[in-house]
Amino acid sequence: MRFRSAILLASLASLPLSTLAEEKTGAEVYETVCSECHSTGKHDAPVFGDRKRWGKLVREGLNDLVPAALRGVRKMPAMGGNPTLTDLEVARGVIHMANAGGGKFAEPTAADAARWRKKADAGKKH
Ligand code: HEC
Repeated sequence: MRFRSAILLASLASLPLSTLAEEKTGAEVYETVCSECHSTGKHDAPVFGDRKRWGKLVREGLNDLVPAALRGVRKMPAMGGNPTLTDLEVARGVIHMANAGGGKFAEPTAADAARWRKKADAGKKH
């Protein structure tokens, strides 16, 4: 019994935190939610891997992009249209797409997500 829980603990320790919290990675968020529009450019969404469109967005920076994704912008629905995502998951989805378009953004922290949520709630839909 003791032996088995040691093994369990050891395997838990090797899991990324996102798995423990059952949170989706950026790639998973993209595949399950964002790709509906961002893989094809539906409603003129910036297409995944389009370095021209995403390059411009990358220069705007995450402090603009993530709050925009959280609150929605024009035909882009708030939270990508899936309110069951957490703010951190949406941020990861943004980063996954931004990095595929030339960005070099690191994994966001919970503090980042909280800051972006504040900014999203303070701003209006533009
Ligand atoms: C129903 C279609 C749709 C879905 C689903 C969708 N998007 Fe979008 N997204 C758009 C459209 C359209 C735009 C362009 C908005 C504009 O600038 O007019 C956009 C723009 C964006 C932008 C750029 C915002 C800016 O500041 O210009 C980000 C970031 C983004 N989406 C992230 C996401 C993420 C992350 C997801 C998944 C969680 C997602 N989107 C899901 C349609 C969608």
